[in-house]
Amino acid sequence: MNFKIAVLPGDGIGPEISAQGVLVMKKTCERFGHTVEFAYGLVGANAIDNVGDPFPEQTYKLCRDSDAVLFSAVGDPRYDNDPDAKVRPEQGLLAMRKKLGLFANIRPVNTFPSLLDKSPLRADIIRGADFVCIRELTGGMYFGKKHEGDDEAWDTNFYTRHEVERILRVGYEYARKRRRHLTVVDKANVLASSRLWRKIAKEMATEYPDVETDFMYVDNAAMRMIQDPCFFDVMVTENTFGDILTDEGSVISGSMGLLPSASTGESTPVFEPIHGSWPQAKGLGIANPVAQILSVAMLFEYFDLKEEGAAIRSAVQASLDKGITTPDLSTPGYKTYEVGQWIADRI
Ligand code: IPM
Ligand code: MN
Repeated sequence: MNFKIAVLPGDGIGPEISAQGVLVMKKTCERFGHTVEFAYGLVGANAIDNVGDPFPEQTYKLCRDSDAVLFSAVGDPRYDNDPDAKVRPEQGLLAMRKKLGLFANIRPVNTFPSLLDKSPLRADIIRGADFVCIRELTGGMYFGKKHEGDDEAWDTNFYTRHEVERILRVGYEYARKRRRHLTVVDKANVLASSRLWRKIAKEMATEYPDVETDFMYVDNAAMRMIQDPCFFDVMVTENTFGDILTDEGSVISGSMGLLPSASTGESTPVFEPIHGSWPQAKGLGIANPVAQILSVAMLFEYFDLKEEGAAIRSAVQASLDKGITTPDLSTPGYKTYEVGQWIADRI
């Protein structure tokens, strides 16, 4: 394949992990006989600083005209601490998701045998945990009508049947390819939007008699995830719940820096770590590049290039087994670029 990849390093640790993702992508293409062209775009705080827009039109065009986007992270404390900021780096990520129609965010959560003792959870609880959270990505409170006044403010958790159906379908299709167990996570005891999700899921369940569907309130799911993570196979949930539950999921794996994701939908897919820009670590070379590198594995797998994906996964596995890891996983630990280089050399 001739890949055209849009690379959006963004802010904070973004550029450091992005470089490792690019390196691994190059090496994998070389090894398997693909060609790849990278083109860089601005997003987030660095796009605001340079052109005044967190997701400039030029970046949008670049993404649209590429086969895939390799995204890293956005966010900057200058904006976090300013409640009056008119524009925020995060809006760049949200605009990208919305404009590219990336309604399905696939976030796999699993453990690595050599890292079982890195999780604060007991090894006997998390051993074998392996599930996928399908997070709805372009609806709900993130994009519903908002009001921000001095004395009152609100967000709207708006979902249409169309939005719910298409994300549930992604959930069911994933469950079919896995252990045929779909958990619909909602808050139907309180929220009208959740009751719509549940109603539609019950209708769709009859189309998928081979998949066991169950329903779980999000508060209960948050508990079950750390009490009995092996219960889950595929969970599907709305935007906000999925955001929260996947940060919790990273604790099962052992570090925030391990979990990749794929955002797919109507246009160019985006491959992005689930973690943020960690501004405190910017430039220190201590950020874990694995989430970004595994996002590259997901990129190849998206294009049905399974061997390429497997080669990256096995190199990552070897680095974890040998302790070639950043300081979040070992002391004193290796630098971001050393881990990236080691993994690339192994492919
Ligand atoms: C994520 C991030 C983003 C989100 C932020 C940076 C807007 O936390 O990808 O999970 O909330 O979706
Ligand atoms: Mn998040």
